[in-house]
Amino acid sequence: GRVGVLYGGRSHEREVSIMSGTGVHKALLAKGVDAHLFDTGERSLAELAAAGFDRVFIALHGRFGEDGSLQGALELLGIPYTGSGVMASAIAMDKIMTKRIWANHGLPTPRFEVLTDGSELRTVPDRIGLPLMLKAPHEGSTIGITKVVGYSDMTQGFAACRKYDEEILAEEFVSGRELTVAVLGRGQQARALPIVEIRAPDGNYDFEHKYYSDDTKYLCPAPIDAALAGRIQNIAVRAFNAIGCEGWARVDVMLRASDDEPFLLEVNTSPGMTGHSLVPMAARTAGMSYEDLCVLLVSEARL
Ligand code: DAL
Ligand code: MG
Repeated sequence: GRVGVLYGGRSHEREVSIMSGTGVHKALLAKGVDAHLFDTGERSLAELAAAGFDRVFIALHGRFGEDGSLQGALELLGIPYTGSGVMASAIAMDKIMTKRIWANHGLPTPRFEVLTDGSELRTVPDRIGLPLMLKAPHEGSTIGITKVVGYSDMTQGFAACRKYDEEILAEEFVSGRELTVAVLGRGQQARALPIVEIRAPDGNYDFEHKYYSDDTKYLCPAPIDAALAGRIQNIAVRAFNAIGCEGWARVDVMLRASDDEPFLLEVNTSPGMTGHSLVPMAARTAGMSYEDLCVLLVSEARL
C-alpha cells in the first residue's frame, strides 16, 4: 500500500524530524515501499485525509506529532500508524506524568518535585540535593533542560525552562553513565535491543552533540556485565509497558556511578532516526539494518 512518512511538523524539534523523516523515506524507497513524505507543519489535516495513505510512519518529534494529538487524528481518519497509541504518547510526552506512573509501579526514577511558580525555588535543593536538573516536561532533544549547580543558578534555570512550559520538573541529578535502551514490540512480546552508552565530552549530551557534533562516543553494546545489562533491559521493558507503549520507543537511563543502580529518566515514543540516532545503532548491533527497522515498524503499524 501507499505509505506516508509524516515529518517536519511544528515543534521545537522540527529540524530533527526533517532529518529523521528524510532518512526513513529514503530507507523505505530502497526497500521498494511506495513511500511519500508529508510535512505536517506545512500541510493541513484535510490534505492528510485526502492523501490516500494506507498507513503512516510517524517521524515527528515533540508536540503535535509525538504527544498523542496526531495519533488521535489518525484514529479518527482510520489510518494505521507506527508506534504508541493516543494515551501512551500523551503520557510519555510529559516527563512528570511518566515519572509518576513509574514510581507507582515501583520502577526506579530519580526523586523529583513539580514547580509551578518561583516560590519553591529556594527550598527545592534542601529536598532533592544539588546539583539538580530543571526540565520543561514536554520538550525533547535536551531543549528546555538546565543543570543547576548552585542556589544562585536556580532562578535563571527556572526562567529558561519556563519559556517552554508552565509546570517545571525539578529532578535529582544522578551522577553516572548515560544509557539508552530501545524497546520493540508490545506487551508480552516487547523486547529490549542492546544497550547504548553515550559518552559526551564533559557529560554534556545536548542538542548540538545529539545531531551535529562528532565528538560524542557511543558504545553499543554498552560495556556492562551481562547480569546488570539484563537487569537494565528488563527495567526498560517494564518501563515501556507501564506507560502502555507499543511498536517502539527508547528508554533513557542513568546508571549511578556509586552503586551501579539504574534510574529511568524518560521514554521517547517517536525516537530520532537521524544519522546520529541511537535506536538505529542498537538495531544494527542486533543485526537489523536501518532499512529493515523502518520496514518492520511500518509492517506493525496499527490503529
Ligand atoms: N526527541 C528525540 C528526537 C529523541 O528522543 O530521539
Ligand atoms: Mg526525550
